[in-house]
Amino acid sequence: MKIGILSDIHVDINFTDKDIITPSICNNIKDNALDMIIIAGDVASNYKLILTTLEEIEKQTNIPCLYVPGNHDIWVENYPEKTSWEIYELLKSYPHNLANGPYVINNDWVVIGDLGWYDFSFGDSNKYSFDDFSNMKYEERVWQDSIKAVWNKSTQDMHRYFMDKLEKQLKMYQNKNIIVVTHVLPIIDFTVQPPSPMWEYMNAFLGSSEYGELILKYPNVKYAVSGHVHYRKRKKINETEFICNCLGYKNEWYKNDDAEVEVDKALMTIGI
Ligand SMILES: [Fe+2]
Repeated sequence: MKIGILSDIHVDINFTDKDIITPSICNNIKDNALDMIIIAGDVASNYKLILTTLEEIEKQTNIPCLYVPGNHDIWVENYPEKTSWEIYELLKSYPHNLANGPYVINNDWVVIGDLGWYDFSFGDSNKYSFDDFSNMKYEERVWQDSIKAVWNKSTQDMHRYFMDKLEKQLKMYQNKNIIVVTHVLPIIDFTVQPPSPMWEYMNAFLGSSEYGELILKYPNVKYAVSGHVHYRKRKKINETEFICNCLGYKNEWYKNDDAEVEVDKALMTIGI
């Protein structure tokens, strides 16, 4: 079984005169005869566009497109009357949103996941205090979640919510191989390294070491997929292959502005 892995497709930001990303993903799926694709969040900061994008991928390709929300996906900028919780709930109307629950592939494999959040553990705690990180502002640069992610809960509480949910699901499937999907990073290796002075601070908002530590307690987690940082990296630790595989913004693509070419470069596959 061939599973495609991709994240941070940002169809809104990458939109030119039309959506150039979704057709490229569909073509890649067909060309490579994939059986499933996993998108680890940041499809768009507009829940209606997210839903139509994911539905379009499934309709065009006839394969399951599993998804977890990213931080951009729950931003309220286009729906200021809603909270992020309301948007998070609306995204659950997509049946293959893993926030709804695990997706059992077969007797041997299950996919579990959700957005995840951050607890500042990836920031440089020798230089910054908890209160410094809580400001979410480095010089003039404001971490946009502090304005646009309206959970009405603390960052730590959000992280704890997703940790508890992940732990329960890991316990449920100790008899299966697991693919864990989070939008945020579970290991420090995928943060900006070595960090510039700004990233000594901003790395705090990329994830939590607790996700990685939890995942590594379960050697039946064979893959841990994440996104968020717009890198394409892999690292095997013990039995688990950690994968961060982002398409990212068009202006980040190296010497290329052709979506079809970049999707083909970015989209990686795993075989199970
Ligand atoms: Fe992103």
